Amino acid sequence: MRIGVLTSGGDCPGLNAVLRAIVRVVERDHAGTVVGFRDAWRGVMEDRWETLDVARCRGILPRGGTILGTSRIQPYATPGGLDLVRAAVDRHRLDGFVVIGGEGSLSCAADLQRDGVPCIGVPKTIDNDVVGTERTFGFDTAVAICSSAIDRLHSTAESHDRVMFVEVMGRHVGHIALHAGVAGGATMTLVPEVPVDAGAVAEAIARRHAGLSYASIVVVAEGATPVPGTIDGIDYAVDQFGHQRLGGISQLLAADLGRRTGIETRVTILGHVQRGGTPTAFDRVLATRFGVAAAEAAAAGEWGVMVGLRAERIVQVPLAEVAGRTRTLDLDLYEQVARRFFAS
Ligand code: F6P
Repeated sequence: MRIGVLTSGGDCPGLNAVLRAIVRVVERDHAGTVVGFRDAWRGVMEDRWETLDVARCRGILPRGGTILGTSRIQPYATPGGLDLVRAAVDRHRLDGFVVIGGEGSLSCAADLQRDGVPCIGVPKTIDNDVVGTERTFGFDTAVAICSSAIDRLHSTAESHDRVMFVEVMGRHVGHIALHAGVAGGATMTLVPEVPVDAGAVAEAIARRHAGLSYASIVVVAEGATPVPGTIDGIDYAVDQFGHQRLGGISQLLAADLGRRTGIETRVTILGHVQRGGTPTAFDRVLATRFGVAAAEAAAAGEWGVMVGLRAERIVQVPLAEVAGRTRTLDLDLYEQVARRFFAS
């Protein structure tokens, strides 16, 4: 058994834990070999790789980032990319690839599977927005980092009677914002799934602060957008892969609130600190379970699937069902645990 492994897209805590688990199962239980490709599909197409064995993976379980490196380069966006991937399969005599990635990378894996390159997906992203799994690893770590930052912001907010805006990641979805906001006791949590009415935000905060000395925390997902006509949105720059470079919506909302109410505001954009460093125990366990399940699926010849978590159990979901879709927030949950406490 010989499998190629790659970590693709934005990094997230737990990637190394998946690699370690895959290598242990393949090497120890199936006497197989894991070929680790550098910088995702880029390394596959440029033939940059290393053999991953148990010795190489010692000590990496708690390490953030990925020992393989990552990139967003995809074969279908590269001239001759599919042929280069097929050539790598032949050259390394691979049974197939285990692709550890988010929605974009898993969609690519689904296309490759359709085109005859066997793939198994492992869902990774701090955003927790992959369809077919209730959790992606990395999410729990990101939420823990955000909620501990919010805890710290409470005390300084109270000292100055300020409204602190905290911007967290979440390109299309508000999972991190919702969980961090609830865990951190935020006054308001604004998510991409529900357009933001800046006037309503200002009114609610002004009501809460009326005549009293008060502090507020407003958690904003980076992908939140204003209701058209309330405030101007941001014209984000776009990177080479067509991804908008998000960041800054909280600054607009804070400035708007200050103008409307006269209340002093400050903004903290947590940014990539949410993706760095050691994974939580939960993420280490989940990443290990995903790695074991992906390696066992490869050993059993069960290609074309993504491993996922449903009701605490590891399941397999066809890659084709995952491709091109985003798991958005459960709006009932948002209503029940976030909106009902808004500015109360
Ligand atoms: O998809 C994960 C994510 O962390 C998003 O939340 C964020 O918008 C994006 O990646 C940032 O990507 P980059 O590393 O390119 O800045």
